[in-house]
Amino acid sequence: MIAISWKLTIFTLIYLPIVGLIIGRIVKKLRKPALTAQEQFGELTSVLDESIAGVKVVKGYGGEEFFGDRFARINKAYSDVSRKMMYRQQLASPMSEFLGILAAAGLMVAGGLLVVGGSLDASGFLAYIGIFSQVTRPIRQFTDAFANINQGIAAGERVLALLDSKNPITEKPDAIDLTDFKESIEFRNVSFAYEEREVLSNVSFTIRKGETVALVGPSGGGKSTISDLIPRFYDVTAGEILIDGRNIKDYTLASLREKFGMVSQETILFNDTIENNILLGDLNASHEEVVAAAKVANADGFIVDTPEGYNTNIGDRGSKLSGGQRQRLSIARAVLKNPEILILDEATSALDTESEQLVQTALDKLQSGRTSLVIAHRLSTIHNANKIVVIDAGHVAEQGTHDELIAKGGIYAKLIEMQQV
Ligand SMILES: Nc1ncnc2c1ncn2[C@@H]1O[C@H](COP(=O)(O)OP(=O)(O)OP(=O)(O)O)[C@@H](O)[C@H]1O
Ligand SMILES: [Mg+2]
Repeated sequence: MIAISWKLTIFTLIYLPIVGLIIGRIVKKLRKPALTAQEQFGELTSVLDESIAGVKVVKGYGGEEFFGDRFARINKAYSDVSRKMMYRQQLASPMSEFLGILAAAGLMVAGGLLVVGGSLDASGFLAYIGIFSQVTRPIRQFTDAFANINQGIAAGERVLALLDSKNPITEKPDAIDLTDFKESIEFRNVSFAYEEREVLSNVSFTIRKGETVALVGPSGGGKSTISDLIPRFYDVTAGEILIDGRNIKDYTLASLREKFGMVSQETILFNDTIENNILLGDLNASHEEVVAAAKVANADGFIVDTPEGYNTNIGDRGSKLSGGQRQRLSIARAVLKNPEILILDEATSALDTESEQLVQTALDKLQSGRTSLVIAHRLSTIHNANKIVVIDAGHVAEQGTHDELIAKGGIYAKLIEMQQV
């Protein structure tokens, strides 16, 4: 091209990048996927997931139409946005073709002027255009490839941002292992807020090794929150939690959490076999140990009655089991872990009186010689505790033994009185 006409080539070299840049801008804008479309799609999936998982409630409350409408509305919004986006994206390719031809026309005008001016003959110009048209295609493929790479990078960045998002619970670089739990767990002026609203303020109490400490008090007071703070599922907002006189943030997370066996208020089970759900307590345990743990939790009886015994699949979140059976499985899991410290949050609330007594005896056995934090609404299960801490609206209202608190005649005494009625 330089041999045919260096003037035209210099013009091309300056003109093409500028035009290319402008075209690239326009096309890129058209190709850009709409963020709202992705957000709408997220919402669509969440509505779908919720209404299928909650189908019992939806049907039981006659909410089919409500949820149907909700789905239809979001579905419509999503399809509108995606149609618009598709329209734009499909426009990108013809648009770039069209603009490319306009650019070539510009080149022809420039070349034509040179021909008219006499510095380029017509045949040379035709040859020039012929070569030019062969060169542009690979160049365009090059730029397309770059655009694709950029799209990939942009998408990758979104994924990586998610993968890199920081866990707020961090371990200190010089954290030490909590090898032996020797003396006590102490809450010292602990305050905590999930977001803005403070749900615990200035909570102080101590659990000595080997003791059973019970948390009682009105619903929503902050008992479960307290139990979540000890294994550091959340970090305190103010004050500190000490184990053997050291802030729990000084210990490595794994060594800290290893010390606890938890039975939480919501039983958390997985779509897997009964055996594997219990095994989570100690992945190296043998089948015999699993059975022994199930026996302690008074669960062996119903397990052997299931069609495939320990190999029975319990469905999504354990949906094929009764509430009490689920609870006993999660107790068995804690038993298998054989932890130094037990945290029982309403561990027997879903059981009938007879099973509760059986499981309670088992738990009492498990608790003896072990440290435990027990949360209970049925006060009969905790009156033997070494210490009872009454939590009311995020504060420690009173603490002491059953007898001391009865003598005091405060909230606890009132709760006991009501439950006896
Ligand atoms: N994940 C959360 N995000 C925001 N607020 C929360 C969260 N979990 C609990 N809360 C709030 O914190 C307060 C204490 O809740 P918590 O579950 O600790 O109460 P509780 O004493 O265990 O009650 P219950 O006896 O009913 O189990 C409540 O007011 C609750 O609304
Ligand atoms: Mg609770």
